Amino acid sequence: MDFEEYYSQRVKWINEALDMCIPQRSIPQKTLIESMRYSLLSGGKRIRSVLLTEFCKAAGGDPENALSFACAIEMIHTYSLIHDDLPCMDDDDLRRGRPTNHIVFGEAAAVLAGDALLNAAFETMLSDGCVGDLKTSVKAVPVDLRLEACRLIAEASGAYGMIGGQMLDIENENRQVGAELVEKTHRLKTGALISAACVSGCILAGARQEQRMAAQRYAEALGLSFQIKDDLLDRIGDEKALGKPVGSDAGRGKITYVDIYGISGCERKIAELSMMAKSCLSEFEDNGFLMWFTDYISTRKH
Ligand code: IPE
Ligand code: IPE
Ligand code: MG
Ligand code: MG
Ligand code: MG
Repeated sequence: MDFEEYYSQRVKWINEALDMCIPQRSIPQKTLIESMRYSLLSGGKRIRSVLLTEFCKAAGGDPENALSFACAIEMIHTYSLIHDDLPCMDDDDLRRGRPTNHIVFGEAAAVLAGDALLNAAFETMLSDGCVGDLKTSVKAVPVDLRLEACRLIAEASGAYGMIGGQMLDIENENRQVGAELVEKTHRLKTGALISAACVSGCILAGARQEQRMAAQRYAEALGLSFQIKDDLLDRIGDEKALGKPVGSDAGRGKITYVDIYGISGCERKIAELSMMAKSCLSEFEDNGFLMWFTDYISTRKH
């Protein structure tokens, strides 16, 4: 199979679903919906949603049943990006090749669009199949598994996961932090949601415990390597290819992996972690796409 073609089909499938989840309506607060859709439907690699549905598939489940959860995780991720770009956070004006949400809609609308996307994510995960104009087959998954996946995603997005990591990231600007704290920040701000994507895909498939644990180990390695790569691209990437500013971290006084390990040290770590992640995939029989995707993620240019 041509994995690149398969990946682009999956992205299209997810994008169409996201478009239907939050349809534009002519209601008095339509600018809020417009602002949510502006960021949600502006591209993005859809890595978390693809991981979620592909782990579901690799563990023997039907990815169609996981579509609403895949949409939800992209809503949470998009909300985190809208807030991450705000002047009080990273103060960036470019995202996914377009002006950031607050540049277009203003800060208040950007805060509200982020808040509303987070709520929409939970509404989507807790729905019985109808979300906006989207209909899914989530009902085929037992309710206790859906609740377990939802709880896991909630935890990973909160104070002990992504938001906690964002707090450390902001708190440590202009401080001489060491490798340990940088790694902790990376694991929380980025790794936690990636882990939740992989493991919740397994949960929705009703996967056995060994597979869940393998998905967790996979995601811990991949999540860290993903953020190291993000740091590297912020230093040596190309703004046009990236669709977001280069040099933002240094501009905000953030110590990143590149400051600690250098460019070649980061490249080595990414390769090591990616190998480690792939070794966990032996727990899954049909792992061809996930093997390819792991390499795609660690060698990406954006
Ligand atoms: C960017 O995530 C923010 C981080 C957590 C590093 P992605 O690189 O997945 O962003 P999109 O969704 O493809 O734009
Ligand atoms: C963002 O990390 C992580 C989250 C949004 C949770 P970064 O601040 O490094 O992400 P980019 O580089 O702006 O995409
Ligand atoms: Mg940030
Ligand atoms: Mg940022
Ligand atoms: Mg970054």
